[in-house]
Amino acid sequence: MCISHGQNSTLVNIEQRRSIRSFTDKLVPDEHLMTILRAANQAPSAHNQQSWKFIVIRGKRKNELVGLVGAKAGEFPRAAAVLLRMAARSINSAPVVIVVANTGKLIGHGTELFQVEKDQALDFFKTMEIQSSAAAIQNLLVAAASLGLATVWLGILFLIKDEVLRLMGEQEGEFMAVVPLGYAAKDVKEPKKINFDMMVKWLE
Ligand SMILES: Cc1cc2nc3c(=O)[nH]c(=O)nc-3n(C[C@H](O)[C@H](O)[C@H](O)COP(=O)(O)O)c2cc1C
Repeated sequence: MCISHGQNSTLVNIEQRRSIRSFTDKLVPDEHLMTILRAANQAPSAHNQQSWKFIVIRGKRKNELVGLVGAKAGEFPRAAAVLLRMAARSINSAPVVIVVANTGKLIGHGTELFQVEKDQALDFFKTMEIQSSAAAIQNLLVAAASLGLATVWLGILFLIKDEVLRLMGEQEGEFMAVVPLGYAAKDVKEPKKINFDMMVKWLE
């Protein structure tokens, strides 16, 4: 599908970004990494709380994450185990991996500010934190694509979220996603997307 009219580079990057699951050995320059993290941090966030944290892992900690995911995969039914093993391979091949966590800052801030009932406040602000971090991750993916870098958003590690956060040294907060980052080992075709017309309802 073509959304990019003319030379609008934002639309070109949105359109051409693909989930890439294997990477070359080429390292990601720190300058690019910082640009990508700053772009993520520019995302809109509920009550401007920026309730996200980006944990950048390379080397030993990344290898430990590969080991953890591989070891845990066998504890899950087949479909989940397959995806976890695929995720471990992606993490292994990427030179750098960004773990995204929600800090809980918005939950504390919002509950105090809005004075709504405790359970509703938790549900509401937790959802807003997830939505805010999702916006940050999408910025991250598109910024990476704009620099010729490849990514994949790994949600499957939610299944082992406590172990992942522990390995990252995070005592608090919520698991959000893991994003390997690097140069694509090979190009992939756009997967078949559901017809755009099915996604939009027009009302007057
Ligand atoms: C919330 C979320 C979770 C995802 N989790 C995984 C995952 O665990 N493993 C994986 O290989 N891809 C994962 N993906 C990537 C999707 O499979 C991918 O975006 C989709 O197939 C469309 O392909 P595209 O990104 O190239 O357009 C995830 C994407 C999102 C948004």
